[in-house]
Amino acid sequence: MFQPTIFVFSFLIPLVSAQCGPGAIYQASGSRCLNVFRTASSFQSAEEICATLSGHLVSIHNTIDNTFISSQAQKYFDGGVWLGAKTTAPDVTNPLNWYWTDGSNFDYQNYKVGQPSPQGDTACMQLQTGTAKWQTTNCTAQLPFICSYSSSVTPTCPSVTIPSHCPSGYTWYDETDFCYKNTVRFTSFNDARSSCQADGGDLASIHSANENQFLVDLSKAGITNKDKSHSDDVFIGLVYQNSKWQWTDGSAVNFLNWGDGEPNNMDKEWWTSLVADPHEDKNTENTRWNNVAQIDMRAFICKKAPLH
Ligand SMILES: *[C@@H]1O[C@H](CO)[C@@H](O)[C@H](O)[C@H]1NC(C)=O
Repeated sequence: MFQPTIFVFSFLIPLVSAQCGPGAIYQASGSRCLNVFRTASSFQSAEEICATLSGHLVSIHNTIDNTFISSQAQKYFDGGVWLGAKTTAPDVTNPLNWYWTDGSNFDYQNYKVGQPSPQGDTACMQLQTGTAKWQTTNCTAQLPFICSYSSSVTPTCPSVTIPSHCPSGYTWYDETDFCYKNTVRFTSFNDARSSCQADGGDLASIHSANENQFLVDLSKAGITNKDKSHSDDVFIGLVYQNSKWQWTDGSAVNFLNWGDGEPNNMDKEWWTSLVADPHEDKNTENTRWNNVAQIDMRAFICKKAPLH
């Protein structure tokens, strides 16, 4: 019933958006809050993150909402974003085979030409923010996503990704409240570090298994150079200096995650990379750390304090 006045409401009555918490978008037509997450995740991981907000991946039931959600998401990024629709039947053309994770009816679709296309036994749905069109997608694909939750529920987590958390190119991680950026450019440690410092940060330090996993996901997300054997292998800020391992950003070394047999070659390998992808011969290093020599070239991850 609020549909015709969505925009008026959001401009004139700050209280309306306040009921969604900072960074969330109030969708008046559904009396619900939307949070846009720019971290690429699988459909299932995304739905689990939404559950921490007492919500679900967003569902869409009419053109007005479809346009609203698409245009809101486009403020955060271009391209595909998960919606909460899934089917576990191979026939994706039958709407009865689909369900929304929030339990609502699958009563509206806005497929792009040529869609829906089969994805095997299961399929999930993405929205293209530019065109507001839908397409079926392998549920294991990694995409940004939108959560929705009732505006009467106060989120239990101080969650939410909002643009002002981080400068352009950086992704916010709610658990650490830091911003991170993966740069897929093979370069020396010193050059990588200078680049991070020029952004007001430093090479990433890692202080928990969750932060490590977040950086693994982030470093996989930007990969374009699959023919390089170290394509998912990124410098982090751990260096061996004055006979001990230290983080370049000065934070405490309170978490270590070396691969089997690492660190080795301690006469010259005083720098560290996070091996986000198992090299064929180094599976034990998967998601763990390897110490490397200064001449080794890697992509790198910067970390900086949020803007807020
Ligand atoms: C979906 O992606 C997974 C992982 O990349 C792959 O193993 C699977 O074959 C894909 N399914 C289809 C139908 O393409």
